[in-house]
Amino acid sequence: MSPAEDIVFPEYIQHERFKTWLRDIVSLCKPKTVYFCDGSDAEYAALCEQMVQSGTFKRLNPQKRPNSFLALSDPSDVARVEDRTFICSRRKEDAGPTNNWVNPREMRATLAKLFDGCMQGRTLYVIPFSMGPLGSHIAHIGIELSDSPYVVVNMKIMTRMGRKVWDVLGEDGDFVPCVHSVGAPLLPGQQDVPWPCNKEHKYIVHFPEDREIWSYGSGYGGNALLGKKCFALRIASTMAREEGWLAEHMLIVGIEDPKGTKTYIAAAFPSACGKTNLAMLIPPRGFEGYKVTTVGDDIAWIKPGEDGRLYAINPEAGFFGVAPGTSYKSNPNAMESIKANTIFTNCALTPDGDVWWEGMTDTPPPELIDWQGERWTPEIAEKTGRKAAHPNARFTAPAAQCPAIDDNWENPNGVPISAFVFGGRRASIVPLVYQAVNWNFGVYLAATIGSEMTAAAFGNIGQVRRDPFAMLPFCGYHMGDYFNHWMQVGRELPNPPRIFGVNWFRKNSDGAFIWPGFGENMRVLKWIVDRVHGRAASIESPLGWMPRYEDLHWKGLESFTREQFDELMTVDREAWKQELLSHEEFFAKLYDRLPKEFIWMRELILSSLWRSPEHWHLEPERAE
Ligand code: GTP
Ligand code: SPV
Ligand code: MN
Repeated sequence: MSPAEDIVFPEYIQHERFKTWLRDIVSLCKPKTVYFCDGSDAEYAALCEQMVQSGTFKRLNPQKRPNSFLALSDPSDVARVEDRTFICSRRKEDAGPTNNWVNPREMRATLAKLFDGCMQGRTLYVIPFSMGPLGSHIAHIGIELSDSPYVVVNMKIMTRMGRKVWDVLGEDGDFVPCVHSVGAPLLPGQQDVPWPCNKEHKYIVHFPEDREIWSYGSGYGGNALLGKKCFALRIASTMAREEGWLAEHMLIVGIEDPKGTKTYIAAAFPSACGKTNLAMLIPPRGFEGYKVTTVGDDIAWIKPGEDGRLYAINPEAGFFGVAPGTSYKSNPNAMESIKANTIFTNCALTPDGDVWWEGMTDTPPPELIDWQGERWTPEIAEKTGRKAAHPNARFTAPAAQCPAIDDNWENPNGVPISAFVFGGRRASIVPLVYQAVNWNFGVYLAATIGSEMTAAAFGNIGQVRRDPFAMLPFCGYHMGDYFNHWMQVGRELPNPPRIFGVNWFRKNSDGAFIWPGFGENMRVLKWIVDRVHGRAASIESPLGWMPRYEDLHWKGLESFTREQFDELMTVDREAWKQELLSHEEFFAKLYDRLPKEFIWMRELILSSLWRSPEHWHLEPERAE
C-alpha cells in the first residue's frame, strides 16, 4: 500500500480538494509519515525539543533567553536566492523582464523530477496558515506541505497557523497550495545533518495563474517560509492586481501626536534597509507626548474601504528581522521583542548560552561560537575579517511581544493609510525627504527608487540597483503592469494618500552618514504627518515639495546645523541629470508596458532642474 492511501485525516478536515492534493503530493514526494500541525504550544515545544535532539537547534540559556533557540544553517543556505526564483506565468510577457521566467509546462516537468521521492525518510508536515487575522475580509489562507520542522516552528510564529484555519476553510474554502522540500531525502540508515538542504539545486517557483508555490532545496527564510515573500508578495501581488488592491513590501506604523490624533503611514524600503527600525521607532528627545506604534515591519496588504480611504493589514504575525545592527541603541523595541520565545538563525553563541551579533554591543564578547560553529574572538576577527554572525542572520519573534505593538494591529478591517513613504540606501544624490506633487509623480518616485545592494540577497554588495517600490524581487508579474496598477488605484481614490521619498543613508565626503537616523527619523515622520494634515510648510523643489531647515522640528537635536541640513538636502543638477538618465535606462527594459505618463514626468523633472540653481539647497536665493 502506498503511503498516500495510508493517510489518516483528522476528523476536523472535511475539505475534499485539499485531501486529493495532499494524496498527490504524498505519492510524489514519498515521505515516511504525514503529520497534521495543530498550531498548539505543546506541538511547538515538542518540535523544538525534537530539533534540539537532532542538532538543528541549540536551546539557549533559559535564564538569559527563555524558550529560545539558535539554528545555524548550512553556509550555502543563508539568504533568498533571486536567480533561482521563478515566475512561471503562461506567457513570458506577463512575468516581465525583471523576473526569471520558465514555461510552466517545462517547469512542472522539472519539478516532477525534483520532487519525486524528495521527502524519503522524512515527515511531511501539513501547515495550514492564515495571512492576516483569521476571518478578516482582507486575509487569505495557504497550506504549506513541508519536510522541515524548522519551517513549522517559524510558520507558527510568522502566521496564524494551525487547526483553527480549518474552521475558516470549511469544506470548500480557497487556499494557496505551497509545497516545500529541503531537497535532501534520507535513505535507510543515512544520518541526517543539522541543516538539510540541496547544495546543487534550488528552485523557488510560482505559478501565478494557478496561485501555486513550489520551493525546493533551501530551508532559509523567504525561500522556505512560503507564506511570506512567495505568497504574501509574489502570489498576492497578482491577486491584488486582479481584484483592485495592493500587496506591498511595506512596514505599517502609527504616529500619535500629543493631542491624540493618530496617523498611519506605510513605507517601502528594500530588504535590510530599515523597515523594522522605522516600524519600531521610539520618539527621541524633543518629542514628548508623541507615540509611535507598530502594525507591521515587512508586508502590507492594502484595500480600498467604502469611505474611499485605503486600509492596511499586516498579513504576518511575527517579525523575521535582520539581527546584525540590532541593539538597545538602534532598536530597543526589537530587543524587547526578542527577549524570549524567539528563534535565532545564524547568530553567534556566547559561552553562557546567549546570542550575539555585530552591533548588538559596542564591545564584542571575548569569545564566541560563530555562525559556522567555529571558535571566534575579536582578535581572530581582526586578522581574518570573519563575522561572528552572518550579515543576514535573523530572529523570528511573535509580533505581540513588541512593546510598541499597535492596538489595531489585529483589527480585521485594517488601519487607514494617510501616506506612503519610499526609500533606498543611497550614499549620494537623493535628499533626506521630499514629497511628490501628486499621486502620479509619487508613483514615478516609487518606481525609480534605487538601493545599494545588501546581504539579504546574493549579489554585488554596494552596487546601486533600481528597486521599484522595493518590490523588484517580489512582484509576481510584469513590473510595467504593476506601475499601471498603482496609477489606476490612485485614479479611483477621491483623495489618495500623499507620497514621499526618504533617504537616511546619504554620506559626506568622509564617507560618514550625514543624518543620525534611527529615532531621529521621527523628525522626518513628523513633517510627513504634518504635511498630510496640511500643517507643515515646505517649498517647491525640482523633485517636489521639501522642508526647509526651519520646517523641521529640531528640539532635542539642536546640534544638527543648517549647513549639515543643506548638505543632506542638496539636489545637484548634474548628478540628477545622470540619475534621470539612469531611470530612462531602467525603464527602457519595461518600455512596452510602461505608463505613458512616466515619459512626461521625467521630462518635467528635468525641466525643473534646469530652471533651478546648479546645486539646489532649499534656499535658491543663497545659491544664485
Ligand atoms: P527585510 O527584513 O530584509 O525586508 O529588511 P528591513 O528593511 O526590515 O531591514 P532592517 O530594518 O532590519 O534594516 C537594518 C539595516 O538598516 C541595518 O544595517 C541598520 O543599521 C540600517 N538602518 C536602519 N535604519 C537606519 C537609519 O535610520 N540610518 C542608518 N544609517 N541606517 C539604518
Ligand atoms: C527580505 O529579504 O526582504 C526579508 C527576508 O524580509 S526573507 O523573508 O528571507 O525574504
Ligand atoms: Mn522584507
